[in-house]
Parts: sequence; C-alpha cells; structure tokens
Amino acid sequence: MSATVVVGVQWGDEGKGKFVDILARDADIVVRFQGGNNAGHTLVVGDERTVLHLIPSGVLNSGKICVIANGVVVDPAVLVDELAALRARGYLSDDACLKISDEAHLIMPYHKAIDVARERLRGKGEIGTTGRGIGPAYEDKVARTGIRIVDLLDAAVFEEKLERNIREKNLYLKAILREEALDFGAVHDAFRAHADRLRPYVTDTALYLHREIEAGRRVLFEGAQGTMLDVDHGTYPYVTSSNCVAGAVAAGAGIGAGVVQQVIGICKAYTTRVGNGPFPTEEPGAIGARLRETGDEFGATTGRPRRCGWFDAVLVRQAARLNGLTGIALTKLDVLTGLDPLRICTAYRAEGERYERVPASARLLAAAVPEYEELPGWTEPLANARRLEDLPPNARRYVARLEELSGTPFTMISVGARREETIILA
Ligand code: IMP
Repeated sequence: MSATVVVGVQWGDEGKGKFVDILARDADIVVRFQGGNNAGHTLVVGDERTVLHLIPSGVLNSGKICVIANGVVVDPAVLVDELAALRARGYLSDDACLKISDEAHLIMPYHKAIDVARERLRGKGEIGTTGRGIGPAYEDKVARTGIRIVDLLDAAVFEEKLERNIREKNLYLKAILREEALDFGAVHDAFRAHADRLRPYVTDTALYLHREIEAGRRVLFEGAQGTMLDVDHGTYPYVTSSNCVAGAVAAGAGIGAGVVQQVIGICKAYTTRVGNGPFPTEEPGAIGARLRETGDEFGATTGRPRRCGWFDAVLVRQAARLNGLTGIALTKLDVLTGLDPLRICTAYRAEGERYERVPASARLLAAAVPEYEELPGWTEPLANARRLEDLPPNARRYVARLEELSGTPFTMISVGARREETIILA
C-alpha cells in the first residue's frame, strides 16, 4: 500500500505541477481530490509547455491512470476542451486512462455568472477569485442543490434539476446582481453534448481507488491551490472554497484516512500570492518586481501578475503542522540568484504582540510586520546543479536555514522549470 499526497504550503502556484509530474513516475494512479479549474498546473517537458486545469498532472507520463475524484468541482466544457487538446497531442488515447467520479459536482454557467457579478459588487473588497464559479458551485453542493455528474448522465434528472436551479438562479441574477438571465434551452443542450463526451470516463472512483489500493497500486494525490487558501485554515475570507490541506484527501477521494503514508509539501523559495488578502512579506517595490519578472510570476489560469515577497517561515511552519508534512520540495531557488541580501521572515509583530503562528484575524494579519533575518545571496546560475554540493555555499546555507525553520526535511529542490533541473535529496 502506498499513497502520497502533494499539497501546496503557501498561497498556491508553488510549482506543484512539476513535482507531481516527477513523482508520477513512481505512481500508478494520480488523483485530483479538491478544487476545480481555478488551478493551473504548468509542466515543461522538453520544449513543450502544458498548462492543466482539471486533469491530473500525471497525464504526461504514459500508462498512468488519472482520476478526478468526488471532491473536485467540474466545469464540463473546460474538461471536454482539455481532453481534446491532450488527445490531439497523443495523450489519453486510451479511455481507460481517465476516470471521473459520478459524485463530483458540476460548475454551471450560473455559478460563473454569480462569481463574477459578486466580485464586481464587492468593489475594493473583492476576493480576487479566478471567476471560474468555484465558490458558488461549492455553495450549492453544501446547500444540497448542486447537480452532480451522475445527474448529468441521466437526461430526465438533469432536465428537472437544471430547470429548478435555473429558475432560482435567474431570479437571483436579475433581482439582486442586476445580471442577464440564462437561457434554459442553451444550457441544457450544451450540457447534453458534454454528457455524451464524458460518459465513457464516469465511474465510482472511490470504489475504484479502494480496490486499487488494496491491490497494492501506488497512488499519488495531487492537491490544488495551497494551505493558506484552505477554506478552514487559510487566510479567510481571502481563500478558495475547498479544503486544500492533506486531510481533505479522505473526503475528497473517498478513501480511509489511514491510507496516506507520505505528505509532500511544495514550497517556493520565496512567497507569492494572486488575488487579494493579507501578505505580510509582500514586496510591492523593486524586489517584488524583480521576483515577478525572473520567476515569471503570472497566473497560469488568469494571467494576473502575482504579488511577490520574501520567504515566510511562519506560514510554512504552520502548513507543515496542518498537513503533517513528511517532506518539502523547494521550488524556484534559481529565481533568487543575484538578490543580496536575502530575507527570511521568522515571526510577525502586530498590535504589540509577537506571533510565531498565522493569526486567524485577517485584520491582524494585514497589520503584521515581519521580523526578518538576513542571509547573503549568490550570483551563480543554478540550473545545472543536480546535487546539493553543486550549489554555491550561500545557496546551501539559505536552503539549510529554510529547512531548519520549517521543521521538515527537504526531499527535492527545483532549480529550473524543466523536469531534469531538479536536485533529488531523498
Ligand atoms: P477562487 O478559487 O476562484 O474562488 O479564488 C479564491 C482565491 O484563491 C483567489 O485569491 C484566487 O486567486 C486564489 N486561487 C484559486 N485557485 C488558485 C490557484 O490554483 N493558484 C493560486 N491561487 C488560486
């Protein structure tokens, strides 16, 4: 029995796609268990760059089974397009390589319309969502009015549920949000076409995973977003609408909580955030701009520039605890080349108190002033490093300090976007 979970430890965009792609080589099955197409996982293989939003990042390794489990919210139009694009490039030629849970909830056009309209009404207080309808889809799931994949495949049930939902959502869209109403017929017909396209992949993925785990198959669970975007443990309300921590695997994929053996946190060598909300180590000036440019810090889903700042050991330590991390894969160390000195946040001060944890109050966190320690930088490019000893001494010192502060052994270090630009430590 072997199950590994990969999670983001910061605010998403840590570079999970690259490491899932690498770890998938030693897995038989790769599973998405939460979130939806708000995620954008970028993979670089050879000269080819692939951005995936829904299908697990293991898909570029041949012979792997990819699973979209029940905890994911699925926009069928996006999934159908992603599927077609991958198939056109020779991936997923065998239908048996993709399995979609019949219990996963659908993102409907009204979810997107509501997401976008609400953000507009929030004005300056907007969350900065990806506008993909994620929050409203999870709301309907919890309100027990959602439409699931199993409903999509049953023409009569789908028609009835869609009819009821569209009637209610159109009232809300028109009267409260001052938006256009949606046309039942257009949505219905588009979704019937999606149903036919997706039907071959739909199954009871919880049962499938149970059997495969029992049979000794190696399963990799691919988290999306990051710990600080978790709806319970993140910087609420500036979070996404799902649980992103490792514990979400049990509910989001329907497996026993004791199955997971390894939890790998993916952690950037500095910090970024896209969307609004407190970010204590943010560098709004030249240093942030430099990190954004060198690190190509633009959202893979929305293209938005990411906010950039120094490494925050307070939140990484907190993420290590919340996820029960067994290891950390550090990404984008190469981006720091040329910055001197480097700063690491070890605690915050806010309203006369010192914090070694992330306070729950968004107001307090927004007021938090980081306590920094400084380390000397390096000037050498790192892309050719394959062993720790290949790194310049100051880069090794920086990595060792991050490892010490996070309280978690580092297992891999990424020094470039390509698969091979990686130092494997354990
Ligand atoms: P939502 O998930 O679209 O509702 O967006 C809520 C917050 O999560 C916003 O700040 C988004 O920018 C952020 N977010 C959602 N998905 C991702 C991701 O995959 N990477 C980084 N940030 C994300």
